[in-house]
Amino acid sequence: MNIPDIIIAIDGYSSTGKSSFAKLLARKLGFLYLDSGALYRGVTLFAQEERLISRLGAVSPELKDALQDLHLSFGSDGRLFMGARCIEQQIRTMEVSSQVSPIAAVPYVRAWVDAQLREYGHRGRIVMDGRDIGTAVFPEAQLKIFMTASEEVRARRRYDELKAKGEEPLLEEVVQNLRERDYIDSHRETNPLRQAADAFVLDNSELSFEEELAWVIGLIQGKFGIL
Ligand code: DC
Repeated sequence: MNIPDIIIAIDGYSSTGKSSFAKLLARKLGFLYLDSGALYRGVTLFAQEERLISRLGAVSPELKDALQDLHLSFGSDGRLFMGARCIEQQIRTMEVSSQVSPIAAVPYVRAWVDAQLREYGHRGRIVMDGRDIGTAVFPEAQLKIFMTASEEVRARRRYDELKAKGEEPLLEEVVQNLRERDYIDSHRETNPLRQAADAFVLDNSELSFEEELAWVIGLIQGKFGIL
């Protein structure tokens, strides 16, 4: 498909399969895939290692200055690095998941992450997923998708994902974490999770990857007049 150099913004709730879908779509289109949540997770890991967040999620004001020394970047395969160290596995643990939402609610953290994300956006030809990509990071994105799925389906996906990584989560704990994150993500003051007015909604509770991909390709063909 001959697609223009557009930005595709994919937003939605946690564990709706945004990342897997965005990755697949990017590969299919030959675009770069960027996971904005990974940067929030990277900042969370950093805050934990520097002891700038308490066990109860209170963020130290010292984090603001400390961010000047933090260097996060994506490797060519999309894995996240802190300086020269690959932190891809560490940022996906329950320990990080359970503290990432309070970190992502801090306005200066959001500004720091947004500045990094916009750098990548200059190039176009990207698929980026997150919570506020179509509403705040790239409101000018030419295609916006808002993903959702039932809580049951999302919890099961997250549970299976953690199990596959060798963690021993309790399903109730996973559900609780999802609910907490949904609540914080959609109620924070700065750029909360919400559907952009011009976003297309994709509820994938009962769709396979192939069906999702066919749906979005049809959307792209229709929107950009490509056969
Ligand atoms: O997509 P994820 O679960 O890896 O995201 C981790 C957290 O980061 C999530 O709880 C909300 C936050 N986030 C955000 O606030 N804005 C984004 N654009 C991406 C993620």
